[in-house]
Amino acid sequence: MNVRILNSREDLNATAATVIASLLLSKPQAMLGLATGSTPIGIYRHLADMYRRGQVSFARAYSVNLDEYVGLSPEHPQSYRSFMNEHLFQHIDIPISHTRVPDGNALDLTAECVAHEQAILDHGPVDLQLLGIGHNGHIGFNEPGHSLTGATHVVDLKERTRSANARFFGDIDAVPRQAVTMGVGTILKAKQIILVAFGAEKADILKQALTGPVTTECPASLLQCHPNVLILLDQEAGGWLK
Ligand code: PGA
Repeated sequence: MNVRILNSREDLNATAATVIASLLLSKPQAMLGLATGSTPIGIYRHLADMYRRGQVSFARAYSVNLDEYVGLSPEHPQSYRSFMNEHLFQHIDIPISHTRVPDGNALDLTAECVAHEQAILDHGPVDLQLLGIGHNGHIGFNEPGHSLTGATHVVDLKERTRSANARFFGDIDAVPRQAVTMGVGTILKAKQIILVAFGAEKADILKQALTGPVTTECPASLLQCHPNVLILLDQEAGGWLK
């Protein structure tokens, strides 16, 4: 794994955005694997700025998101579809028909999981997958446990994950208990992975994920098996590596 520790969050956001923009310059029809949460917001802001300055176009690109809450309609303000529209899609020129966020409100969630995998097959493979990391080592919503599922599937969210995300809902009881997520197998099929993390509260789990054993108890540790992973950290998250 290629680990880079940047001086500031701004540097980190700019570096990740530049890697994504460079890919689109060399491959305008690239498929991007996108993430939600606090971590990628600054990266998306940079990409929107680069688009406004004419430095990158998404007109031919495709995107597929990691996950979505079960039971929230796409219009729900806390759905990941709303998040993507608000933080990225409405600021750039990607055709909305080229973007896919799992539909957590689908009547047949099993069919929705199959459809998500099929969309990746149709326009993929994913050229670049952007990832954050949960405090418990999850990637996407692949929660730690005795086993992991390879393909896109429905997952029960851990209480740690629900309480971490309660800040967006105002009330823990409003946080959905399940999500649809790409599986770890889906994620590892991406040609390149960029994992981004900032802040001291991610340092311990990063230490486990990057230097500990490869184990389903820390899903991010499976990234050690991928041949093309770039880890971008700020000083607080990655200072222990020096
Ligand atoms: P965060 O979430 O970016 O809000 O810290 C990361 C994750 O849970 O994957």
